[in-house]
Amino acid sequence: MKKTIYITRKLPGEIVDKLSSQFLVKMWSEENVPVPRDVLFKEIEEVDGLICLLTEKIDEEVLSKAKQLKVISNIAVGYNNIDIQTATEKGMIVTNTPGVLTETTADLTFTLLMSAARRVVEGSDYLRSGKWGAWSLMQMTGQDIYGATLGIIGLGRIGEALVKRAKGFDMNVLYHNRTRKLEKEEQLGIHYREMKDLLQQSDFVCLLLPYSPEVHHLIGKEELSLMKKDAILINTARGGIVDEEALYHSLKNGEIWGAGLDVFEQEPVSLDHPLLSLPNVVTLPHIGSASVKTRMNMAHLAADNMLSVLTGGGALTPVNSKK
Ligand code: GLV
Repeated sequence: MKKTIYITRKLPGEIVDKLSSQFLVKMWSEENVPVPRDVLFKEIEEVDGLICLLTEKIDEEVLSKAKQLKVISNIAVGYNNIDIQTATEKGMIVTNTPGVLTETTADLTFTLLMSAARRVVEGSDYLRSGKWGAWSLMQMTGQDIYGATLGIIGLGRIGEALVKRAKGFDMNVLYHNRTRKLEKEEQLGIHYREMKDLLQQSDFVCLLLPYSPEVHHLIGKEELSLMKKDAILINTARGGIVDEEALYHSLKNGEIWGAGLDVFEQEPVSLDHPLLSLPNVVTLPHIGSASVKTRMNMAHLAADNMLSVLTGGGALTPVNSKK
């Protein structure tokens, strides 16, 4: 008998066709609206595989409904939306989509850095609002990117890809990581710093580490107070890494110069969020990996993980190993 899978969001036809050639596929019918929890509770009961997005909280409550679930394939590299420990205890394999989104996400991270530094969004709004009277010497002046010091917190694949972009701008690159990577320092021409030193010495601080409860609000009042007054914070990782209230006060009071945020603690971020009222913050709707090609590659990798696991081939990119 064919195995059954559930997909929590409407995916492009070629992905569904690929999966339908092997499985009985059920899918939430909306492209832009997440599946309601009560629907997920029902759908997960009888399926062998689940393909989900980062908007689905696959917690203990959801997993407790599953009677025969063997694999959860997340269409994202981050998997903090899934209770890995419970899934592992239940013998479920969890997979993600690393690698295929590395360069695209590094591009967006550098885009945010440049946009914040050179006030791209603010400048465009300024022009359109009719405020552009005459060219003047210090009008819309920002921060230099070339030759500046970039501090990367979390030197994984995306961090390394960001280094390549930074080197093209003659930036001095510092990094902090749980484990020091001596080989990478040599290979990429970068320098390790303790967190405090990195925050004090960097003109740009980019957060590129995975979220876990241990790094919740890693960047708070104290950390922000260590940064330079003309420094810019960029977050393309997960919103929970930054204490948003502390960031708001720091930006508002000129303790740091600007920020570029692709991620928020609550997504979608509410329109009355204080950070959205500040001109020195560039905000994006969690689109780090959002190029047509990369999003398709992510969906294909998620589908291939499902196909491989459920046909006995093992996971291509597992994040746990079966207990
Ligand atoms: C996106 O944030 C991802 O984790 O892939």
